Amino acid sequence: MKIAIGSDHAGIDLKKELVSLLGEMKIECLDLGTNGPQSVDYPDFGERVSRDVSEGKVDRGILICGTGIGMSIVANKIPNIRASLCNDLFTAKMSRLHNDANVLVIGGRIVGRDLAKEIVRTWLSTEFEGGRHSNRLNKIKLIEERFIKHGL
Ligand code: RB5
Repeated sequence: MKIAIGSDHAGIDLKKELVSLLGEMKIECLDLGTNGPQSVDYPDFGERVSRDVSEGKVDRGILICGTGIGMSIVANKIPNIRASLCNDLFTAKMSRLHNDANVLVIGGRIVGRDLAKEIVRTWLSTEFEGGRHSNRLNKIKLIEERFIKHGL
């Protein structure tokens, strides 16, 4: 599995921890920044990571900003992205089982390092259940396609 990861300045410390974790897990990881403590705009990094997932350059993405809200909003604007803000373990598990989330978002100012690592481990090791949930994801896809084709 290959993962793209990105954050803004508010998520950079947690991003470093998660890049190390992915290395320990022997998961290929593409770090798309930010790389320094300067204030940056989360949409730039949210778009980069989500685009790579959407285009199939990587299998999944991980995004971190202060709360996780901004990155979630951005990621879910990109076609094919099902981003879920998971600041707890139950949500991380359900976002895979029911939503087949392909982008994990974490609030770097909300979640501590150890919990964040456990969220990532859970999210990466939980498979989509399919079945009735596939029908629901198909409906989301149809909504996305309608708006891409026809706009508002
Ligand atoms: C940056 O200060 C903060 O607004 C950002 O990291 C994020 O929390 C936005 O949703």
